[in-house]
Amino acid sequence: MRTYLVTGGAGFIGSNYIHYMFRKYKDTIRIINVDALTYAGNLENLRAVEKRDNYTFVKADITDKEAITKLFQENEIDRVVHFAAESHVDRSILNPEVFVKTNVLGTAVILNCAKAAWELSDGTFKEDKKFLHVSTDEVYGSLEEEGSFFYETTPYDPHSPYSASKAASDFLVKSYIDTYHFPANITNCSNNYGPYQFPEKLIPLIINNALCGKKLPVYGDGKNVRDWLYVEDHAKAIDLVQEKGRLGETYNIGGHNEKQNIEIVHIILDTLQEMLPEEDPRRKLVSKDLIAYVEDRKGHDRRYAIAPDKIKAEIGWEPETMFDEGIRKTIAWFFENEAWMKNVTSGDYQKYYEDMYRGR
Ligand code: NAD
Ligand code: DAU
Repeated sequence: MRTYLVTGGAGFIGSNYIHYMFRKYKDTIRIINVDALTYAGNLENLRAVEKRDNYTFVKADITDKEAITKLFQENEIDRVVHFAAESHVDRSILNPEVFVKTNVLGTAVILNCAKAAWELSDGTFKEDKKFLHVSTDEVYGSLEEEGSFFYETTPYDPHSPYSASKAASDFLVKSYIDTYHFPANITNCSNNYGPYQFPEKLIPLIINNALCGKKLPVYGDGKNVRDWLYVEDHAKAIDLVQEKGRLGETYNIGGHNEKQNIEIVHIILDTLQEMLPEEDPRRKLVSKDLIAYVEDRKGHDRRYAIAPDKIKAEIGWEPETMFDEGIRKTIAWFFENEAWMKNVTSGDYQKYYEDMYRGR
């Protein structure tokens, strides 16, 4: 039975990936999820799998070399899927250091432990061992013109402390590939949305605020563009890249779904109005009057757009979920999981929200 070490599996994409993998492979794989449970890690995301015999959760920090070494010594790991990271751009602007620690040092530790466990005495690697580093399109910087896209060959040009730390982690993985022929792939993906996304990110923040009748903060002129991908499509792409991708290669993953932020806000408001039952008191709260243009994000990248041509040509992956369908599924999930939202927005979230949006 193949054993996966998933880092950051209690976060948004990691938990969706774990659900996807158990749906696909059922009892034929084993998953070990290592996560430090920062503010973004939530074991509630994994309630449905936690009792499985082929699932184990280990609370550890990926920068803790001893803990990670022990994991590799005690388990014959076949696949590493590395999600763990500090992931929110606004937080990186407020506090860059933890981004360097987790995203750069943490990736170095995971890489080094995998190399130590998998390397043979002649410098080659044990058969069928694979490492996948989950990265972002933000490493490519910002696009201005319509019709231009990020390709795997686009030079790196990160702007935020978050994207700079992810770029550094990508280069570390590339250096292992080039120096040791380490069996790895990198994926650079566009903005994800879907169930379990923490409401510091645009889509769940707007859904939650609209349902509470709170103002909807739109940075700058609201015309920044992101390329949205439904998270399950991303999970599928990661699995396909790891199984079918050429080792050493980078694959860009995108949604073919560019939208301005203000369009996203309008779509969410319209969809909420459509989906809320007539008698639901929240119908009265959801209103375009809540939209508030606020001070822009510092260094705000204007536009991201991926051309997922390589992954389509080599692996046959394409985004499957159209935005209309994906946003309805996402909103339906938030309707069905009100308690999840209440839990994650109590406590520390309130303080973050007040600090982040004070004066905005
Ligand atoms: P997230 O913030 O929701 O989850 C991150 C997880 O990593 C959390 O469970 C957290 O507890 C864990 N973690 C953080 N620091 C850790 C540490 N030092 N040791 C162990 N665990 C730690 O992030 P996400 O949105 O699910 O993103 C996952 C990965 O995908 C990240 O690497 C991110 O850069 C990348 N990515 C995200 C998006 C997106 O739109 N969200 C798009 C492209 C790429
Ligand atoms: O492109 C991939 C990246 O997408 C990932 O690597 C990051 O981990 C992920 O957080 C995401 O980064 P963004 O900065 O694009 O996502 P965010 O949801 O924070 O913001 C999306 C857009 O919405 C961005 O242009 C900023 C804007 N925004 C965001 C928030 C939170 C607002 O206008 N108002 C807000 O309150």
